[in-house]
Formats: sequence, structure tokens, C-alpha cells
Amino acid sequence: MERHITLGEFIVENQKDFPYAKGELSALLSSIRLAGKMVNQQINKAGLAEILGKAGKENIQGESQAKLDVMANDIFISSLRKRGEICGLASEELEDYLVFDDRIHKNAKYVVLIDPLDGSSNIDVGITVGTIFSIYRRITPEGSKVELKDYLQPGTKQVAAGYLIYGTSTILVYTTGNGVNGFTFDPGIGSFFLSHPSIKFPATGSTYSVNEGNYVHFPAGIKKYIKWVQELNEEENRPFTSRYTGSLVADFHRNMLLGGIYLYPQGTTAPKGKLRLLYECNPLAFLAEQAGGKASDGLKRIMELQPEELHERVPFICGNKEMVEKAEEFLTSCK
Ligand code: AHG
Ligand code: MN
Ligand code: MN
Ligand code: MN
Repeated sequence: MERHITLGEFIVENQKDFPYAKGELSALLSSIRLAGKMVNQQINKAGLAEILGKAGKENIQGESQAKLDVMANDIFISSLRKRGEICGLASEELEDYLVFDDRIHKNAKYVVLIDPLDGSSNIDVGITVGTIFSIYRRITPEGSKVELKDYLQPGTKQVAAGYLIYGTSTILVYTTGNGVNGFTFDPGIGSFFLSHPSIKFPATGSTYSVNEGNYVHFPAGIKKYIKWVQELNEEENRPFTSRYTGSLVADFHRNMLLGGIYLYPQGTTAPKGKLRLLYECNPLAFLAEQAGGKASDGLKRIMELQPEELHERVPFICGNKEMVEKAEEFLTSCK
């Protein structure tokens, strides 16, 4: 039996496609892989190790932090800091970005933005959670301190992005702008193996993922779109099936593999929606586009938005291209 290629082998084999700093980006992806394994191990034993529940603090998002939010954040930061590939990091869980300007890091070329644990509300009930990451090349010169502008780059400037899902199996999915590939963790061997090569959204889909409990707050166009997906039309496979886990990364992964659309629209109580442009929407938008899908705020391409602040929120519609375009049509016609 021919064995699958490992993530480490894949990274090295494909680094010729990176436009620059080949070795550093490979090493950075390896650090993420290692941190992902460490978080995975913690999550697997969470119910036994008294690491479920709340940490007792609020994060900058105004959310109550789970113990595993804090733990995953610490694991990723310490693992990425150990080596010299990044000059700074910003996280959903930290008020401000970190500056790594000691001897090892000051000449590094990259910054990382991370949602260390996505789907926190699902941790205590054994439902899939994940980690989402986004990597940019810094704008400020190497050797200087990293600045806010290094983090506030539009998503089109990402050099790599990806996620881990800690679910029925643990899967790492990433892109460096040359397609999307997924690797499943074999816990016996301790390695990720290529299991999902060249992922593409199927041509059509008939699943929609939205928190319909917020329906009353949605804009008129989204309300009409939701009614439309629920109408009977056999030729168009409607009504669509509803699937919403409360873990963005799990909903995104399922929709990318099986076809579907994810919506977190703006509402009267959340004028810009809930999801964070830098830690959640941009990395998933990059993956979506690389897999032939689309991501928009309802009117504009997510990756072209100019971020104004670190923890900025944005309405998010993402999935099969034609499904996203249909939702956009409803939004535009109700403007
Ligand atoms: P996080 O756990 O990183 O704070 O992200 C939570 C996000 C996302 O994973 C999910 O899709 C969404 O919040 C769920 O929000 P609602 O509970 O409002 O539907
Ligand atoms: Mn959170
Ligand atoms: Mn999240
Ligand atoms: Mn999170």
C-alpha cells in the first residue's frame, strides 16, 4: 500500500511555489502544525483534565473566555515565539498585538493573526471546535518594531491562511495561494497526512448555515433570501437543508466539502455582525476563493476590505460562488 504524503513533506515539496522567504514560511507552517497537535491533545482530554468551563475573564470582544480559549491562545503564542519566523502576532483573545523585537525575531518577515479557538461555546459539550490562522508579510522594514499597519492589511495580501478542526478527526487545511489542501492527523503516528488534496467547492450546494434565532434582526434582503431557500422548487433543490453548529470553522469545512453557504449578517443588535474580519473572515475568504468559492460582506469582496482596527467585525457570507451571488442579489435588490 502506498502511504500518504505527510504535511511536512508536502510543505517542503511545495515551497518552490512561495513567492519569497521559502524556508521561513515552511518553518512557520511547521510551528502551527506543532501548536495544533498540542491544542488537539488538550481538547481530547478536556473532560478529564478540569480544563472545561470559564476562565473567569472577558476578552476584548466582550465575550466570557473559556479556559481552553486561554490555553489555546498561550500554546499558539509560545510555540510560534519559540522560533524566529514571526515578528509579531495578533489574537482574538488579546487586546493589543504582540511585538517580538528581540534578537531572534526582529529580522522576521511575517506576522500571524489568529483565532486560537473558534466555537468556544461548543467546547464543554463535545462539539467540533477549531483554530483559524492568517499570515501576512510585514510592511515595515525588517529589523524595526512591528506596527499596527502590519496587521491592518487587506485580505488580498495574505501569504497563507488555514484552520485546524478538532472534530471526529483532526484536520489541518491551508492555502498559500495555490489551491487548498487538507491533512488528517493520525494520532498513533503523531503526523498529519494528506487526505483532502486540491479541495474545491462542488459546483452547487443545497445547505445553508445561519443562526436563524437572529432572524428578526436581519436586514430585509437576508430575510427574503432565507424565505427563498425555504421555498419548494424541486429543480433548484429547494428547500435547502439547514446546518448550523455554532462553530464557524466546522460549518465552513462542511460547506466547502459538500456545497453550501454560511451567513452571519449584520443585525440591529450587532450592526456589523459578529465575526472578526482579521481572525475569521479574511482567512476563510482566502481559502474559499482558492477552493472556487466566494466570500463577501453582502456587497463587497471580503478580501478587498481595508481593515480599520484589529478587532473589527464584518457581515460574512461565504460558500459556493453561485449561492453567495444569489444572496448578494437579494441584498442589493432590497437596498
Ligand atoms: P469564537 O468561539 O472564536 O468567539 O467564535 C464564535 C463564532 C463562530 O465560531 C460561530 O459561527 C459564531 O460565533 C456563532 O455565533 P452565534 O452563537 O451568535 O450564532
Ligand atoms: Mn471568542
Ligand atoms: Mn471564532
Ligand atoms: Mn475564538
